[in-house]
Amino acid sequence: MSDTATARSEGDERTITGKAIRLEGVTKRYPGQQRPAVDGVTLEIPAGQVVMLVGPSGCGKTTTLKMINRLIEPTEGRIVLGEEDVTDIDGDDLRRRIGYVIQAGGLFPHMTVAQNIAIVPKMLGWDDARVKERTTELLDLVSLDPDTYRDRYPKELSGGQQQRVGVARALAADPPVLLMDEPFGAVDPITRQRLQDELIRIQHELRKTIVIVTHDFDEAVKLGDWIVVFREGAHIAQYDTPERILAEPADEFVESFIGSGAGLKQLGLQRVRDVDLAEAVTARPGDSAADALARAEAAGHGHVVVVDERDRPLSWPSRRALQRMTSIPEAADPKTPVVGSGATLNDALDEMLVSSAGAALVTGHRGAFVGVITVEVVMAAISAVRAAASDAMAGAPVGTNASDPAARGSDG
Ligand SMILES: Nc1ncnc2c1ncn2[C@@H]1O[C@H](COP(=O)(O)OP(=O)(O)OP(=O)(O)O)[C@@H](O)[C@H]1O
Ligand SMILES: [Mg+2]
Repeated sequence: MSDTATARSEGDERTITGKAIRLEGVTKRYPGQQRPAVDGVTLEIPAGQVVMLVGPSGCGKTTTLKMINRLIEPTEGRIVLGEEDVTDIDGDDLRRRIGYVIQAGGLFPHMTVAQNIAIVPKMLGWDDARVKERTTELLDLVSLDPDTYRDRYPKELSGGQQQRVGVARALAADPPVLLMDEPFGAVDPITRQRLQDELIRIQHELRKTIVIVTHDFDEAVKLGDWIVVFREGAHIAQYDTPERILAEPADEFVESFIGSGAGLKQLGLQRVRDVDLAEAVTARPGDSAADALARAEAAGHGHVVVVDERDRPLSWPSRRALQRMTSIPEAADPKTPVVGSGATLNDALDEMLVSSAGAALVTGHRGAFVGVITVEVVMAAISAVRAAASDAMAGAPVGTNASDPAARGSDG
């Protein structure tokens, strides 16, 4: 675990693979509707960042999202991807360059997992070997064992697993942009939290440009680099960082949308990877228990982290438990508290409370163990977040509507 710090900062040096998206005066008028569903919106979505679209039901979130990949044709305005004006290019061509994930994955039920993932690569004419390799890589990326899941049909998967396959499918041809419409709306809260953490981890690795529609403001705070709060007609009420929206909502509409407990929500802002982790003594299945115990004693640690051949945590036996063993067991202990390095401190705290361990194991790249987070570290960080929350400043990207006075960041 000597390279804990390296592992955690690694993502920051990775290159951005996403492209910026610019909506310029984009309007959608549905036939027979009095008012436009989306009214002259201008929005810059920075490359390699996650932008969350939130707002009341019917305010135009889905319409805005679908105009980006032209599942819905804009009535007016331009859409620019990177440097390229894509307003008039072929929609199918465009959609091959933009991954799209809908609720519950939207998988084709008559195709296996592998076939679902292979759709776009096949359309692009990749050969079978390359498609197979890519499928394996992507299943790994979304933490589904390729040999177990490759040949299953969607109905043989849980909702969360289907959603993961949906993400794998959207990423198949390595598009610079990923659009997601309430991707985690259909799963239970615990699965939702895991999928969110997974997405954060994947994004840390890939640095795509990701636009996500959500109903859940807490989810927006957790996942977003930026949040757009829309009112009806996709009028931008505020476009800013989660920190600033929470600390300085632009008006009463935004304030009411955030709901009560904005202060508490700020605790959802800080990630496990941002705090100092403790080191741990590790062992592998089959190792001598006496040897592991001796190393734990020498280091002054109460527990030993058992990791598999890919450094993924399996169990976390105490010294007392080790005394009763001859060799380290292979079995995974489902009660082991584990959080991804992209999880929020709130999530880490939840995990610790559920397992009553007072600490949790932290995993980074591909689920590998990187260190231990303790309840003391979380409490200290939470106090620091409280203090720092209001002075987060950043140059907000532009977002306006044609008919509104400029609605930039809250101070813009
Ligand atoms: N195909 C359509 N024909 C006519 N009107 C539509 C169509 N699709 C959406 N609308 C209307 O456009 C407005 C915006 O719809 P949209 O689906 O973009 O909202 P949303 O913000 O995604 O809402 P929700 O949170 O409920 O998903 C709504 O008033 C809706 O009734
Ligand atoms: Mg919608």
